[in-house]
Amino acid sequence: MATIEPYRRKYAFAEDYGTSQYKFGPLAEKPEVIENRGFIISEDSIIYKIAGITKKVIVGPEVAQYLGSREDMAKYLIYPMRDGLVEKDNKIAWEIVYEITKYGLLKFTPKNDPHFRGFYVTAALSAIAPKYMYERIFDIHKKIDKEYGVVKAVTIIPQPLAVAIAQKTITCIVVESGHGNTQITPISRYPIRGGIISLNRGGAEANAITAEILKDSGYGDLVPEETLVRMVKEKLGLIPRDLDKAIKIAREDKERFKAVLKIPGTTITIDLGENSWMRFLIGEIVFNPEHEIFESYYRRGMPRPRDTIIGDEKIPGTITIGKAIVRSASKTPLELQPHLYKKIILSGGNFAWKVPKGLEDVACNAAEKVAAQLSEQGVNAQVELTKDPEYSVWKGAIVYSLAVPDDYKWSWDRLEGWYILH
Ligand SMILES: Nc1ncnc2c1ncn2[C@@H]1O[C@H](COP(=O)(O)OP(=O)(O)OP(=O)(O)O)[C@@H](O)[C@H]1O
Ligand SMILES: [Mg+2]
Repeated sequence: MATIEPYRRKYAFAEDYGTSQYKFGPLAEKPEVIENRGFIISEDSIIYKIAGITKKVIVGPEVAQYLGSREDMAKYLIYPMRDGLVEKDNKIAWEIVYEITKYGLLKFTPKNDPHFRGFYVTAALSAIAPKYMYERIFDIHKKIDKEYGVVKAVTIIPQPLAVAIAQKTITCIVVESGHGNTQITPISRYPIRGGIISLNRGGAEANAITAEILKDSGYGDLVPEETLVRMVKEKLGLIPRDLDKAIKIAREDKERFKAVLKIPGTTITIDLGENSWMRFLIGEIVFNPEHEIFESYYRRGMPRPRDTIIGDEKIPGTITIGKAIVRSASKTPLELQPHLYKKIILSGGNFAWKVPKGLEDVACNAAEKVAAQLSEQGVNAQVELTKDPEYSVWKGAIVYSLAVPDDYKWSWDRLEGWYILH
């Protein structure tokens, strides 16, 4: 990569299509981030007509201005992806993906560079994205290029492969856990399709238990505020090294584990009080939703993570991350397995859990938790967490935009190369 032409360096562009967020932008420390959602303007609304609003789909930060009642939000605010996938015939969802992509590209389009001929775009999609998603993503870029001349070439990369590239590895298991789902992908140069396990859980499940805990602690009226629940989860949630021990210690030493959070910009202070020990449930559910303590929550209506069906095999939705990794590795050649276990890479925001100072004896980070679960399975593995877990997919996609040579054309067999637009 020593001789990247200046043009490519300047106009390499990466897009990470996540279930909750869309991350995009050229080479930089961090990507820009917007919610992966669109607000649909109902066409018959007189008030919008009077205000001269003609756009049908609003995306980006502007969406906030349109949010009305909660019923309206449920009806008009649409997240186009579910577990990383867009349904083939969901027209409105694809329209939102188009708007989001356009928003991202136009945001970085240079105003006065006469040499600008468009970006080299790498789009990162779920490792289980079907072929129609590839086709649609190419089409969307073609359309935007036709309208605005902003895409020179585009390529698509599976998200876990982008993570591996960001970590400069080609033999590993990538575990990517975002808001919607958790993908376990063994990689040996390219993702090993038969070994991919996609679990139907992610940050959303930790949000769900946080909401239950808030209800039990007298804050039920705040639960519909998704952003607040998420903040409480991220600030107060802890991963226990061992849940049963952690609960016992936290109940005995209330002062050390007290969970209090002032919500910035509001007058609200959350204090879990006697329930402070429950902060360990928030972290545990990500790694081990089959712990018996969660049964009562499932019984009272908190959704149990759905099972994953692969062929005639059923993977329980509540399987521990450790057991799921072992299942995934077992689907790869025997000789490869020890090499895979030598490098297990965790990425995605749902692994970004912090350990507050002074609680290290009871709480741990995601890599320590997964290593412990693997050790219970008799596997001695090396587990690492990427530096900015939320951004590793985007980072790898940028590296890819810089690395793929100009004359390497897209191939539907290899699923590699540039799809050149002009
Ligand atoms: N410090 C943190 N502690 C715990 N969870 C966190 C932290 N930071 C982010 N998260 C969670 O990570 C999730 C978002 O992760 P990410 O941005 O990787 O998802 P995504 O790419 O939008 O979705 P997906 O990859 O499932 O399609 C959210 O549930 C968020 O609350
Ligand atoms: Mg993601």
